[in-house]
Amino acid sequence: MKIIVAILFSIFLISCKKETIKPQNSVPEIASLEKGETLFQENNCVACHQPNNKVVGPSIEQMATIYKKENASLVSFLKAEAEPIVDLTQYETMKINLEITKVMTDEELKSLEIYIQSFAK
Ligand code: HEC
Repeated sequence: MKIIVAILFSIFLISCKKETIKPQNSVPEIASLEKGETLFQENNCVACHQPNNKVVGPSIEQMATIYKKENASLVSFLKAEAEPIVDLTQYETMKINLEITKVMTDEELKSLEIYIQSFAK
């Protein structure tokens, strides 16, 4: 009898454990500066955008400062839903990259925004 109780109790414990794991897995991803930095590097944005110097594209600092001043949405731009406001003459070069960013999740785009905005002056 003791053994049966022990087995039932273990089953009870195991099923409790499953219950506590489930909600953890369904917690939505949270955007963060670290994720934004990783995405910025992995998607090669950094090849054209350096933190403080203009290379092919404007510096991250310049983009962030302009977006902050204009109170504009980087997420909308990266979703290809808003017009460029930094360097209209070079937009064609950037436009190709929107193919990469416009299919990103909201969480990824928000992370990129947090990362870029962290350079704002
Ligand atoms: C081949 C070079 C190149 C790559 C790679 C590149 N960009 Fe750009 N980007 C540019 C140029 C040039 C501009 C300036 C034109 C403009 O302002 O739209 C620009 C502009 C921008 C702007 C400002 C847009 C505005 O409002 O004018 C943002 C934000 C931006 N890039 C983000 C990114 C992100 C994020 C990535 C990576 C997914 C990326 N860029 C990859 C060249 C590049």
